[in-house]
Amino acid sequence: MEIIETAEAMRAWSFRQKRLGKTIGFVPTMGALHEGHISLMRAAVQGNDLGVASIFVNPTQFAPNEDFSKYPRTFEGDVRMCTEAGIQAIYAPTGDSMYPAGYSTYVTVENVSEGLCSRTRPHFFRGVATVVTKLFNAVLPDRAYFGQKDAQQCAVIKRMARDLDMGIDIIEMPIIREPDGLAMSSRNRYLGPEDRQRALCLSRSLFQAEKMLQAGERSAAVLIQAVREGMDAVNIDYVELVDADSMQPVDRVEQPVVLAVAALVGPARLIDNIKYIL
Ligand code: PAJ
Repeated sequence: MEIIETAEAMRAWSFRQKRLGKTIGFVPTMGALHEGHISLMRAAVQGNDLGVASIFVNPTQFAPNEDFSKYPRTFEGDVRMCTEAGIQAIYAPTGDSMYPAGYSTYVTVENVSEGLCSRTRPHFFRGVATVVTKLFNAVLPDRAYFGQKDAQQCAVIKRMARDLDMGIDIIEMPIIREPDGLAMSSRNRYLGPEDRQRALCLSRSLFQAEKMLQAGERSAAVLIQAVREGMDAVNIDYVELVDADSMQPVDRVEQPVVLAVAALVGPARLIDNIKYIL
């Protein structure tokens, strides 16, 4: 296992591997790793000759009032988990090397980035698209793995890779959940026992709506209302039914859709979703 701290050294490592004919699978993360991250790493290791993960808490995707400074940082444990998952190199750049004085370039993905999480976090996807571009330019992967847990992020990265001819396959992986249904998230660490219990209403309501979809319900209004009613224990940010590629709202389920929710649960802002393909 190698830990690499600069873009130059990372690119040199990847070029060396490519000259040997090796393919590279890449998993970008912000650390505080859990089984959700590890499932992506296992897929990257299995689907490629080599697996690379990055650990970088990206300041440009946090607003000044958000949790950048208190975001959990658990580097040593993360390195151990990456090693166990079979990852060969961890790219862990410093903030200064990623965003030196005078940094001025950002990647904006229009349309797909709008709505949902953008409404309360307007600069979020610009920060994500920018850092993922930088990480891709350092790691030079053949394939990159993202979780459906962050469905809009996945759609944004897919669109960006296509539009900018990045030549990287973006692979979307299913949501890994706790045994009681809660979607795994680094931010679950913020939940005390009572909030942890209340947080269960997100997945419970989504599973209920999934049953309604399976029984033939096609109206967005009906599905959204049912989810809202099930989320009475938390402070809802949004409940929306959107097209799975464009992330634009739909009135009826006639194509692959994502039913997505976000809520404040005590100190944590949690998101969850289900994808439904007819
Ligand atoms: P982070 O929240 O650390 O997530 C890294 C990757 O793990 C993302 O692709 C996310 O969707 C996936 N993931 C998180 N929880 C998951 C779960 N329960 N099941 C499956 N996959 C899960 O997302 C980010 O970091 C950042 O925005 C990043 C892309 C690294 C850019 O800074």
